[in-house]
Parts: sequence; C-alpha cells; structure tokens
Amino acid sequence: MNSPDKRPLLGVNIDHAATLRQARYREMENSCGGFVEPDPVHIALRAEQAGADGITVHLREDRRHIQDRDVERLRECIATRMNLEMACTAEMLKIALALKPNSVCLVPENRQEVTTEGGLDLESKRNEIREIVAALGEAGIEVSLFIDPHPKQIDLATELRAPVVELHTGAYAHQFGKPRQREEWERLVSAAQRANRAEIIVNAGHGINYVNIAEVSRLPHLNELNIGHSILSRALYFGIEEAVREMKERMRAGASRL
Ligand code: PXP
Repeated sequence: MNSPDKRPLLGVNIDHAATLRQARYREMENSCGGFVEPDPVHIALRAEQAGADGITVHLREDRRHIQDRDVERLRECIATRMNLEMACTAEMLKIALALKPNSVCLVPENRQEVTTEGGLDLESKRNEIREIVAALGEAGIEVSLFIDPHPKQIDLATELRAPVVELHTGAYAHQFGKPRQREEWERLVSAAQRANRAEIIVNAGHGINYVNIAEVSRLPHLNELNIGHSILSRALYFGIEEAVREMKERMRAGASRL
C-alpha cells in the first residue's frame, strides 16, 4: 500500500492514444517512428512528467488498440508503475509472466464491446481466476480483479485471495446527475468498506471524468483511480500534461474534503 498522503493515486489509461494510431496505421509494420503517430509511449512519458502515478494499458485479445510492441516498450521506458489490464486467458497469462508489469488487472473481454462494459463474474470464472491470481502472485505481480460493486463479488474476491479489487464505477458515472446517482454511490461506498474489512486494497475506474471526480475521490479506503477516456479527450484540447495536472488537482481537492 502506498503512503496514505499521496492517495488516491492516478493511473492514466493510454489505450485511446493507440486507438487513434490504429485508426490510420493499423496496416503498418511499425507501431512507432517516422510518421506513425500518436505514440502511446510518448503520451505515457509526458503523463508521468505531469504527475501520473502509473500507466495502465489493456492488451486486448483482438489487439484493437495497444499492441504487443507497445507493452514491451512501455515496460522498458516508464519510470512509474505499469498496470496491465488483460483477459483471463492462457495467452495473456504467458505474456504477463514474461513482461512482469507491476500489476495486472483482470477484466472481462467481449469482442463486440467498444470498451470494457461490466465487471468480471467471479462466480462463473472462479477456477480459472483462482489459478491466474496464484500464478501472477507467485511471480511477484500484484493482481487486481475488476468487479462490479456488489457484496457477492467482494466476498468471492476474498475467497480467491485477490490482494486488490478495482471497483467498476461505470454504473455510477452513467447515473451521475440522475435520480439513481445516490443509490449507485452507496453501492460503491459499501463495496469499498466491505473490501477494506477483508483487507483488500480498493482501486476504482471506468467513466470517471473532470466532474464526477470530486465525489469519486472521496470513496472510502481508495488507493488508486484508473482514468482513460476523459484525460485523453482533454489532452486533445490542452495537451496531456495539462490534462493530467488538472485531474490530479481535482483528485486532491476532492479527497481533501473527506
Ligand atoms: N479501468 C478498467 C478496468 C477499464 O477497463 C477501463 C477502460 O478501459 C478503465 C479503468 C478506464 O475507463 P475510462 O476510459 O472510462 O476512464
């Protein structure tokens, strides 16, 4: 666990820099250099300079954005923590064990989705997840499970001996400013409290933006937030450094009102 004064930490998800590159250069042999742009690694380094505490990437099975070469280059270049999001498959486990990111976040993957839509169903995937958590743990890689904020999922994460959970904030973000915002917020709060009682580290992510960050930063026991879309979108207007600095400031302001 990181020192409490710095929390919540910010993991910047740079997948969408690769989405933009792939939109034009999918067929190119090289993933960087020459006129191939933007380079997600370049974006990651600038995000770090501006105060990101870690860099998150999702190497999807269909390689629709981040490529294998990107994760290799990131592993070599970044100075903060590397968090690899991946599906629970043998192929991804092999890649993670060779790459040795600081942490792995296990996520569900569905080829039809635009971005990760729901949390993992720990019930139906119990056995494979148990094995992957154990294998990564033995290799010294911290494992996090991306789950919906429901008591059952927290209890299953406890049973599977996951050291970390990332609570899916998508439903809350979707209801933000609508009548069910409170209900979704309460769900997140009680999930965070339940995880903390089980001595599980609490991260959160999905759908977090410059508006809802004030409340999200006040989630109890919060260790880290993983944010992609809103930071990369703001970077188009003001540059990645400004986008990261602004988010960090809003996180600090939100958390200081605890
Ligand atoms: N956390 C996880 C596990 C995700 O899959 C994603 C989306 O890739 C994020 C965080 C970031 O979500 P967003 O792009 O909505 O900030």
